[in-house]
Amino acid sequence: MRFAKRLDAVPPYLFAELERKIEERERAGIDVISLGIGDPDLPTPEPVVEALARAARNPSTHQYPSNRGTDEFRAAVADFYANRFGVDLDSETEVIPVLGGKEGVAHVALATLDPGDTALAPDPGYPPYTSGPVFSGANVHYLPLAEENGFLPDLDGAPDGQLLFINYPNNPTGATADVDFFTRAAEWARERGPIVVHDNAYSEITFDGYRAPSFLEAPGAKDVGVEIFSLSKGWNMTGWRAGWIAGNAEVVERYRHLKTNLDSGMFEAVQAAAVAALTEARDFPREMAEVYERRRDLVANALQEIGLDVSPPRATPYFWARVPEGYTSASFAELVLEQANVVVSPGNAYGPSGEGYVRLSLTVPDDQLQEAASRIKASLVILQP
Ligand SMILES: Cc1ncc(COP(=O)(O)O)c(C=O)c1O
Repeated sequence: MRFAKRLDAVPPYLFAELERKIEERERAGIDVISLGIGDPDLPTPEPVVEALARAARNPSTHQYPSNRGTDEFRAAVADFYANRFGVDLDSETEVIPVLGGKEGVAHVALATLDPGDTALAPDPGYPPYTSGPVFSGANVHYLPLAEENGFLPDLDGAPDGQLLFINYPNNPTGATADVDFFTRAAEWARERGPIVVHDNAYSEITFDGYRAPSFLEAPGAKDVGVEIFSLSKGWNMTGWRAGWIAGNAEVVERYRHLKTNLDSGMFEAVQAAAVAALTEARDFPREMAEVYERRRDLVANALQEIGLDVSPPRATPYFWARVPEGYTSASFAELVLEQANVVVSPGNAYGPSGEGYVRLSLTVPDDQLQEAASRIKASLVILQP
């Protein structure tokens, strides 16, 4: 058999390798705690589950959905943007469902990039910012996110490109951006031409009273781009594959055009559940943010005790920590696995500028996180002063 070369152009998905390592140790009877993957451990809020069950019993949801989404879904998204961000969206033309943010990221790339185009992507960054463009035959130019710049890209030093991915609150660094940064990005894109795709997977998971803005709050943002929003993390809905693209009507339409040729949209019962998330469970992400804030403090304390220099994030369920002197991302992740049987993600897996960091995910139950923290404190004595 012969297969398409485009698949060889992207590395195996990051977590495939992590999962292999965990399985290896578990087969050897070792109890491994994984802080590798960001998949919420707690259940989806009950009103969302109820709405799905109700809608699934209604035979009208059993037929093909439309790629555009139901009127109710698009209206609920527009209401959410008005109330949460003060952003006005035309629910007819400026909103469309995605089957999770990941699908949105990859297919927006396919809808906007030609072979030979350049996509600008954050480094470190979420892996589909690379695979989407690569599958489109485009080149990826990485924009380093340096700690001394607050993990924001240097747009003035960036080359021309057809597409710019940004993502705040940021995975993996946990960094946040204010509306000023989004305004600069929108102005920059207006001058330089690229379509901006802001990947907003984490705006509802924020701590210490901080409220994250939407890219669409920036003046002129809708003229230059879109925001991809995901229900996965705020509402514990990673399994449901639910989110949307909102903003520039032409980008929304091109994405729709592409998708009508690939699939037939989001199950209408899932759309009803998404409406329930945005209405009946509107405040649920606040409860989750409190859980993650507590866990963040627990991890900060454990890392400080082993002598790491940490700055706790004010958003996202991730902790991005600099590895100690003398270690690389990989050697420190290896050390934590060997000595504490805890899996952390090596930062370089998110791009070359992630070297020197590891990412710990807070999406494990409190008792396991507590146990992981205790193991790290007890076993990594080498780092203690
Ligand atoms: C930056 C970022 N974007 C998008 C997603 C995708 O989320 P989903 O496809 O579950 O909506 C994730 C998930 O980890 C993420 O970290």
